[in-house]
Amino acid sequence: MDFPLFHLDYAGNRMLIAFIAVVHVIVNHPMAVGAMPLVTLMEWWGWRRGDVRWDELARRILFACFIITTTVGALTGVGIWLSASLANPYAIGSLIRVFFWGWFTEWIIFCLEVGFILFYFLTWKTWSGKRKLMHIRIGLALSIFSWLTMAIIVAILGFMMDTGAWLENPSLIDGVLNPIYLPQLAFRTPFAMALAGLFALFLIFFFTKNNRKLRHRAVRFVSLWTLAWTPIYLLGAWWYWKSIPPNMIDNIPVALATQAFESWHTLVAWFIVFAVTVIVLVALWGVLTPKHLPRVALIVPMILCVILVGYFERVREFIRKPYVIEKYMYANGILVQDYPLLARDGVLQHASYTPVREITEENKIEAGRAMFVIACTRCHTVEGLNGVVDKLSSRFGNEPWPHEAVKNFLAKMHNSLTFMPPVPGTEKELDALTAYMLMLQTKPEHLRGAQDIGVDVPVDAAQDSTKPKEEQNVWQAMIAELQSP
Ligand code: HEC
Repeated sequence: MDFPLFHLDYAGNRMLIAFIAVVHVIVNHPMAVGAMPLVTLMEWWGWRRGDVRWDELARRILFACFIITTTVGALTGVGIWLSASLANPYAIGSLIRVFFWGWFTEWIIFCLEVGFILFYFLTWKTWSGKRKLMHIRIGLALSIFSWLTMAIIVAILGFMMDTGAWLENPSLIDGVLNPIYLPQLAFRTPFAMALAGLFALFLIFFFTKNNRKLRHRAVRFVSLWTLAWTPIYLLGAWWYWKSIPPNMIDNIPVALATQAFESWHTLVAWFIVFAVTVIVLVALWGVLTPKHLPRVALIVPMILCVILVGYFERVREFIRKPYVIEKYMYANGILVQDYPLLARDGVLQHASYTPVREITEENKIEAGRAMFVIACTRCHTVEGLNGVVDKLSSRFGNEPWPHEAVKNFLAKMHNSLTFMPPVPGTEKELDALTAYMLMLQTKPEHLRGAQDIGVDVPVDAAQDSTKPKEEQNVWQAMIAELQSP
């Protein structure tokens, strides 16, 4: 509650992160983590057989990966952290405190990775003959560095789902060695390799238009690669699945298909089985009779994979709810341990940016809006995606909503809808939140974030008596600066 809150009322903040993150994973798993070892292997294979055309095909696949990963891949990588810091600055703040050295190392490794890929690509043609083996070694180093960046970030993702021993012993090592880390890595690594095979299959289609023989050999090679990784990622997926705590498994139906379509989740689950089967069959076909593999079969698996990856990331993000960092911080950015304090003093008393602290009959709606911004907008909008007016209408109908019933519902909804954190704060604040919800029914409004309307601070914030004298002055200066046009 120490930051002004960014908010997008149509798409929602979550959609912003989700879009960038899914694009990032779809680009980087196949084209960086998986493709670098595949291209290196292809280069080595061509070199051993003295096949110049094969070597050129490998180089062209690398070229495509090089262009896409260093532009879309790199920008969306930064974009994830930028959008996540906008949507949930508290969560990123905590993660940086825990994983500072992890992130720092990842950044160095990423810079080296970019150096390696530039070097690998630019020396491809000149480092031929005797230097070819050296060039292949550069490819190997690049492959390791690409994998390392993912390996570090996966530790942070695992930590957000299951903090493990870290809660008792908050150290970097305990954060990294969270219970989901290794299973998730054991899944993502071979999955990225298999995805690279599918992506290469897709490229081979364009790069071998005039050379059928080369196409057949390349299709067989890459299909074999994809097929070889398949049992490994399936085993990884099984281990990952086993390591997910049961309360998160309960969230999966809503995670897969939202509440309204919850009963469709078996259909979605069948789609996943279908997609994996198609991918395996196409790969099998490519190994057995690459000549007869129809052209569409080179593209369909890639499309199915894009959908699969999107779903996979959505589910992973969703099932850790109501937490953003498991058992430590709720998705609204409030620490679990602060709930009793907020229940005693009130949320608005402790919020740095709120237009009101003391609730009166006159400012009730304003207070309710502030409560909604703090406690709900990390997941809900007013009238956009996952909009609260729609949600309440589907529960309470279109007649005027009864105040007491809505209030009771809000107070208890986290018990049955376990993906939501409890409403923080006092009874009076809950009452104000309810009043704001009821007002929205008759006068829906477009809720604007701090990026549009700036920040609100109550007059008394400037003389916050709980802060020492020196700090009060800093505070006053800051507010004066923020309020000056
Ligand atoms: C962690 C994210 C999160 C937070 C924080 C959150 N919600 Fe929700 N809420 C959800 C999700 C997800 C759904 C279900 C969406 C769906 O699939 O329909 C939901 C559903 C609802 C519903 C519909 C319940 C029903 O009958 O099905 C209401 C009402 C609601 N939320 C109100 C609130 C209010 C008010 C707050 C703030 C005090 C809040 N939520 C905070 C994620 C959240």
